[in-house]
Amino acid sequence: MASQVKNPALAEHGRRNIEWAERQMGALLKVQERFAKEKPLVGVRVGMALHVTKETAVLVKTLVAGGAEVSITGCNPLSTQDDVAAALALEPHVEVFAHKGETREEYYDFLNRVIAFKPQVTIDDGCDLVSEIHTKHQGLIPDVICGCEETTTGVIRLAAMEKDCALKYPMIAVNDSDTKHLMDNYYGTGQSTLDGILRASNILISGKVIVVVGYGNCGKGVASRARGLGARVIVTEVNPFRALQATMDGFAVMPMAEAVREGEVFVTVTGNKNVVSTEHIKAMKDGAILANSGHFDNEVDVAGLSAMAKAKRTVRPMFDEYDLGGKVVFLAGEGRLVNLAAAEGHPSTVMAMSFCNQAMAVEWGVKNRGKLEAKVYRLPPDLDLEVSRLQLEAMGIRIDKLTPEQEAYLNSWQEGT
Ligand code: ADE
Repeated sequence: MASQVKNPALAEHGRRNIEWAERQMGALLKVQERFAKEKPLVGVRVGMALHVTKETAVLVKTLVAGGAEVSITGCNPLSTQDDVAAALALEPHVEVFAHKGETREEYYDFLNRVIAFKPQVTIDDGCDLVSEIHTKHQGLIPDVICGCEETTTGVIRLAAMEKDCALKYPMIAVNDSDTKHLMDNYYGTGQSTLDGILRASNILISGKVIVVVGYGNCGKGVASRARGLGARVIVTEVNPFRALQATMDGFAVMPMAEAVREGEVFVTVTGNKNVVSTEHIKAMKDGAILANSGHFDNEVDVAGLSAMAKAKRTVRPMFDEYDLGGKVVFLAGEGRLVNLAAAEGHPSTVMAMSFCNQAMAVEWGVKNRGKLEAKVYRLPPDLDLEVSRLQLEAMGIRIDKLTPEQEAYLNSWQEGT
């Protein structure tokens, strides 16, 4: 299979990195072992647009163990780990089109290389593959069994497609499993966002005023980890309930127009555009640091920032200074996902759960081939619980069982005060 990666000589380094991830992804390895025995995906062509990381490599190997053929590209121009891409390109039944620092043209060219593979199952993180197939390659749709979506932003796009009756094949919203959005989005984004900011800037978090823009599961994780490192955390929100949750969790909540005057570090995690606008940036303190951990790079108005800056220079890798005349601001990771652009994304242990869901979603979709409608599905709750069980087992944690008496009690209504 003809891959395109930055440097094939990095393969040995990538292989060791993948082995290191595997040590921490015991739950996914259990699925891999089962797939190797049961072969639920024999001959199925899986097209993937996912961050090409060491954790994703373990997912790819799991799908191949199940009998699949895989064609993979990245889902963000800055997130590919080139050593991992080089190692994956040597795996049988896998082709890879990805490198860190892709131009927009390369990004779409690579996406189309995956589409040329005629995938029967798509796995997306952000919905670009589904969107490209639905808008430009409808001819492929009759052969597509199902698709799986990894992230909140992608699920929001799918819901809009479903509402417009534009969705033409069944999709599984992997993000909506509890073992995905309550784990990866919270613990994963929480830790890896701080990791990205730290690798880019190496600032002391303790004592800093950090503004977390958005208090969904990702924002909750970032706010909690920033507080854990000693930051004074401000949360901004548009949703009254989430704003209330942030308040009850002990964070200062205020409108962005006020937060910009106090903040020293700003982290966007909203899934929406221009939540940090040029007007906001103009009102910030000298030396403010901007970082984004939402899927797309439009949360901070980077184009507006570039247009109003008198000069820009790269101070450190993935850390740019913009001269606004009389003050400067810093942008980490070019305004793209800071955890993947400036660090390595979520740690392997949390990705094991996300990718157990992905592997089981592919298996479930293939098993139900022809029975699902062109709608957005959640994985059945028993599979979500199975992921919890596998992860607990991988962590060596045992739990109790209901006694028959307790089970009967929960199923009854007669017994009361
Ligand atoms: N999304 C966030 N972190 C990731 C990782 N390590 N691998 C793949 N996708 C991710």
